[in-house]
Amino acid sequence: RRDAEESEFEAIIAADKKIEPRDAMPEAYRKTLIRQMAQHAHSEIIGMQPEGNWISRAPSLSRKAILLAKVQDEAGHGLYLYAAAETLGVDRDELYEQLLNGRQKYSSIFNYPTLTWADVGAIGWLVDGAAIVNQVPLCRCSYGPYARAMIRVCKEESFHQRQGFQSLYVLARGTAAQREMAQDAVNRWWYPSLAMFGPPDADSTHSQQSMEWKIKRYSNDELRQRFVDMTVQQAGVLGLELPDPELRWNAERGHYDYTQPDYDELMRVVKGDGPCNRQRMANRTAAVRDGEWVRKAAAAYARKQQEVAA
Ligand code: 3HC
Repeated sequence: RRDAEESEFEAIIAADKKIEPRDAMPEAYRKTLIRQMAQHAHSEIIGMQPEGNWISRAPSLSRKAILLAKVQDEAGHGLYLYAAAETLGVDRDELYEQLLNGRQKYSSIFNYPTLTWADVGAIGWLVDGAAIVNQVPLCRCSYGPYARAMIRVCKEESFHQRQGFQSLYVLARGTAAQREMAQDAVNRWWYPSLAMFGPPDADSTHSQQSMEWKIKRYSNDELRQRFVDMTVQQAGVLGLELPDPELRWNAERGHYDYTQPDYDELMRVVKGDGPCNRQRMANRTAAVRDGEWVRKAAAAYARKQQEVAA
């Protein structure tokens, strides 16, 4: 029976079809999806902190409204992804605990500080831009619920990227101080955004298997290169420099040559030693603990409703 299930799973993957929650799947496939989808969901929720820092200090009502909408979208992305992860038989409260006890992680990128208003533009343009490059292929991931969650997320990410680009466009054409602020933010967010795509393929523990299972459709380095090629053009339109003197078009390769991010820094940040890790985790821990009674009350109320209805 197990062999029949195994070959059934392989056949679905080979045919580029979707594995659905009730299909038989190797335990390792289920575990790596829980790891990646939980990490993705945790990243969306923690990612609200750096930008949330600027909601009360946005320079105009319209910028405040745009930023509020974006941060609310990120919360929604987290909830879609926790719901999609729960189809694999885990409970989101369990995933919260694994984040708080360090057994699960969130994206390195959210451990950097947002020092000026221009950081909100740089995050939208670069971080959400990188997210789009990484998440569009995930719409074709072999696990149905994850792929379908990504379709809605990607539509909202394009609004996130566009509003960031437009905000930097205005700053770059503003006063000298505004232009300087925009360039400084791009200088600080460029390399951490390149590192978001993960370690180089040679050091990627999961890529080989994830690609065989059609979870990961392109390698970390392929997506990083795609992001660089796309972003260099946009930087030209913005009139801002990317902080890489080695950046140049390589006609033979048909891609830009560029300086790699510091992967030792990536691993240090992933292990908890980034500029804001402690603050992000303290805030997240407080939110989960303080929110416990609200979740319990809502669950008790829902149970009562079901009893009354039954
Ligand atoms: N931050 C934290 N951990 C990272 C990381 C990063 N940027 N890049 C890699 N890692 C971890 C992996 O989780 C893995 O950890 P493990 O060994 O403990 O399991 C290890 O480093 C080795 O990396 P791999 O390449 O082998 O891992 P993956 O195959 O999982 O590839 C990934 C990494 C490309 C990030 C992949 O997990 C992925 O595509 N995840 C889904 C997208 C995602 O999580 N994006 C996070 C940002 S959220 C976001 O962009 C929201 C937007 O609104 C800004």
